[in-house]
Amino acid sequence: MRVLVSGGAGYIGSHTVVQLVAAGHDVVIVDSFANSKPAVIGRLEALTGRHLPVHAFDLTDYDKTERLFADEPFDAVIHFAGLKAVGESAQIPLDYYENNLGTSFSLLRAMQRHGVRMLVFSSSATVYGERGAPPYREDFEPIEATSPYGRTKVMIEHILGDVAAANPALRIGILRYFNPVGAHPSGTIGEDPQGIPNNLMPFIAQVAVGRRERLVVFGDDYPTADGTCERDYIHVEDLAAGHVAALNRLAQVEAPVSVWNLGTGQGTSVFGMLHAFERAVGHELPHVVGPRRAGDQPRSWADPAKANAELGWRTEKTIDDMCADTWRWQSRNPTGYED
Ligand code: NAD
Ligand code: WQD
Repeated sequence: MRVLVSGGAGYIGSHTVVQLVAAGHDVVIVDSFANSKPAVIGRLEALTGRHLPVHAFDLTDYDKTERLFADEPFDAVIHFAGLKAVGESAQIPLDYYENNLGTSFSLLRAMQRHGVRMLVFSSSATVYGERGAPPYREDFEPIEATSPYGRTKVMIEHILGDVAAANPALRIGILRYFNPVGAHPSGTIGEDPQGIPNNLMPFIAQVAVGRRERLVVFGDDYPTADGTCERDYIHVEDLAAGHVAALNRLAQVEAPVSVWNLGTGQGTSVFGMLHAFERAVGHELPHVVGPRRAGDQPRSWADPAKANAELGWRTEKTIDDMCADTWRWQSRNPTGYED
């Protein structure tokens, strides 16, 4: 298939591009580089052995999006482009609503106009909100979120449902990712957050490489085995494989919209993750326990049974793989793509 990958220069998009090419797809990337570096493209070309066409523009610009679809045929779109920082979304909510909804509107309109039927959308476990006890299943209703970022995902999921109801020829796959971590085993591409990392794994990796003094563990008084929050960390390579599987599946399904959780089904605590990273690095890492972070749920993990059965997909990588691959990426690229 000829696949347009929006946000293909970003963390999850870049890893998915490598696997799409390996699976025989032709990939075209569109990215504004709002949260990524052009240097990733050369690394992707080295990994895939292919020239990768890249269109650098902001997808909220409908005219540019329309021109791209008028110029080139696509069989499918994988839509990663968007803003993703939960905390920042409360400071600049309009930017999040404009960007995340606007990019989706442009792509949906252009797809409609040019008869592109298949779309894979990056949703998030954040749509399960304050659900109570995991594991979380796709049929939990209603979906709801506690941040402007999360609400953009809830809104887009509803919009996709409405658009598909009006055009049942569409085949839309909504993928709800749990906590993506890790890097390509080559150590040449990985997560490169701008500024202070919001998420646990890149923060630990930056402590390990000496860019941050110590990890602050956000609370150790939760009702969990070791008192720290438990999450379903999924290796970005397994996540990328889930996109290739979803694309294959969309070519066969009857339903216009399908929702799949992408997770391992296992929870790991903050201390569990820290100790796994210490094993990867080979020594202890400085950390202190601080207060809870507002909005954190004690426990969250997927029920991945639907994706396992319908996509013929399951995660293969362990927590130790996630840490070893992150460490290879971080230690070889201490300042990310700016080396
Ligand atoms: P990322 O920021 O690394 O990648 C997103 C890419 O989209 C970036 O390269 C950015 O430059 C690009 N982009 C942003 N706005 C754009 C616009 N208006 N026009 C064109 N390009 C634009 O993020 P990621 O971690 O790879 O996440 C990809 C998707 O997965 C996002 O939609 C995110 O919300 C979702 N998601 C991420 C996580 C996570 O923890 N990383 C979890 C669940 C869901
Ligand atoms: C994991 C655990 C923290 C940093 C977020 C989004 C979610 C999805 C994935 C996009 C928590 C603890 C963290 C630190 C810590 N993204 N922690 N010290 O919050 O589960 O999910 O990313 O869709 O929507 O909310 O991930 O990596 O921020 O936190 O102790 O410096 O690590 O309290 O328990 P989270 P995270």
